[in-house]
Amino acid sequence: MTLTAGEKAQIVNLWAKIAPQANDLGAEALERLFLSFPQTKTYFSHFDVSHGSADLKAHGGKVLNALGNAASHLDDLAGSLSSLSDLHAYNLRVDPGNFDLLSHTIQVVLASHFPSEFTAEAQAAWDKFISEVSKVLTSKYR
Ligand code: HEM
Repeated sequence: MTLTAGEKAQIVNLWAKIAPQANDLGAEALERLFLSFPQTKTYFSHFDVSHGSADLKAHGGKVLNALGNAASHLDDLAGSLSSLSDLHAYNLRVDPGNFDLLSHTIQVVLASHFPSEFTAEAQAAWDKFISEVSKVLTSKYR
């Protein structure tokens, strides 16, 4: 599945709005993930997952900035995400089913913070983008 030029534009344009607030938006996506899908907390037993915690902000920022980095390498997602892919497959061994859950909560955050920008078209592009990133991050499992 490749991203069309229109989809790429949707990703790059919205990323520019997300970037300045990456830590807060990422923290909210994680908080929603842990509250709606508590089984995902098992990977983060060493984190303080309470509302607004430093752990949520730091990790939320890392996750969204990784998406931002991917957004600037849309023609080489596999290459740009290679070391993160190793980490998730070999070290963390995150069950691949969890990626759709995180994609969902990221999209809820984008919809609630950017109601006019996160149109149906933008959502379709972001859903496809996060799914492509997830595919790379889960590609090395065996
Ligand atoms: C670590 C990105 C999905 C669990 C990380 C790091 C990044 C990242 C950037 C930090 C790597 C480092 O410190 O070098 C992403 C992206 C995802 C994704 C872009 C999907 C869009 C998931 C999912 C889970 C997960 C679905 C589990 C529910 C973890 C854990 C760590 C981690 C447990 C290590 C946290 C720590 O101890 O600091 N991820 N991740 N990731 N990720 Fe992911």
